Amino acid sequence: MMSSHLCVLILFVLCGVFGDTDEVKSVSVTEGDSVTLNTDVTEVQRDDQILWKFGPQMTRIAEIYKHIIDMFDSNETFGDRLQLDSFTGSLTIRNIRTTDSGLYELQISSKRGNSYKTFNVTVYARLPVPVITSNSLKCSSSSVSSCSLLCSVVNVSDVTLSWYKGNSLLSSISASDLSISLSLPLEVEYQDKNTYSCVINNPISNQTKHLDITQLCHTCVVRESPLLYVLISLSVVILVICASMFHLCNKNNSGLEDEKSTSEYTQVIYSLQMKNLPQKSLQDVNR
Ligand SMILES: *[C@@H]1O[C@H](CO)[C@@H](O)[C@H](O)[C@H]1NC(C)=O
Ligand SMILES: *[C@@H]1O[C@H](CO)[C@@H](O)[C@H](O)[C@H]1NC(C)=O
Ligand SMILES: *[C@@H]1O[C@H](CO)[C@@H](O)[C@H](O)[C@H]1NC(C)=O
Ligand SMILES: *[C@@H]1O[C@H](CO)[C@@H](O)[C@H](O)[C@H]1NC(C)=O
Repeated sequence: MMSSHLCVLILFVLCGVFGDTDEVKSVSVTEGDSVTLNTDVTEVQRDDQILWKFGPQMTRIAEIYKHIIDMFDSNETFGDRLQLDSFTGSLTIRNIRTTDSGLYELQISSKRGNSYKTFNVTVYARLPVPVITSNSLKCSSSSVSSCSLLCSVVNVSDVTLSWYKGNSLLSSISASDLSISLSLPLEVEYQDKNTYSCVINNPISNQTKHLDITQLCHTCVVRESPLLYVLISLSVVILVICASMFHLCNKNNSGLEDEKSTSEYTQVIYSLQMKNLPQKSLQDVNR
């Protein structure tokens, strides 16, 4: 009975010790935002030393000791984006970049003893709004009842791109830590009255683009190239005008020529007949 209590006590002490030294707090933040790593110190005393280190080399980046703040050479990595609170010793990183991701170690030394804390900061890229386009080839083809769509994002990493019908997931595709472009197809009926949306998300945020079927699917030929459409219509009109004018001119011309040639022809025949007729008639008369 006694020994088990002792065991529990020892475990608690050990856990307490390990918890104090090995505590890793995960912090997720979106690129461009600010984040504050809290010391949980209410007021820094004169003899307290608060030291912040960063990166694989655990480079010293900020310190407060005897109420004096030292930022070391942190401006070479962070510029003026680092700020140390003189009352609490908390560290604020403004306009955070993906390169600021990593481990930040906090060491608090006071008369009461030392304590350590590690912050695992993960900076996620700001997500673009997905772009939905209709597949123009399928659009102008004979398949009139369905519409082919594509949802895309460029230059993304560690994201998932998904199509939702209402609240239910239809399909999705993921990108690893490599920065790539993603696209995901969707086939819908023109008459479909469901709400569709394309969503990009990472572990901390998402962006949604709702699908407007009537806008993307019905007028796709005109939307694809309105100028081409106008040009084609114009050339058809011009062609028709030209054709009819040509026909008219041709008709007039040929009509004149016909008349002329006909009359010449008639004249020739007449003259021939005139030459022949007397002989014939003479013969006839002779008979
Ligand atoms: C950092 O600050 C020091 C002095 O405060 C200055 O000499 C140095 O040029 C700065 N470095 C950068 C990269 O801004
Ligand atoms: C820090 O967080 C990242 C992302 O959550 C994880 O992959 C990594 O293993 C963590 N590192 C440590 C030392 O906890
Ligand atoms: C994609 O990212 C690279 C580097 O991160 C950049 O040079 C390029 O301009 C980006 N392209 C687009 C379309 O955003
Ligand atoms: C997108 O994020 C919001 C909160 O910002 C959340 O309520 C919603 O469920 C998320 N949507 C998806 C599809 O992850």
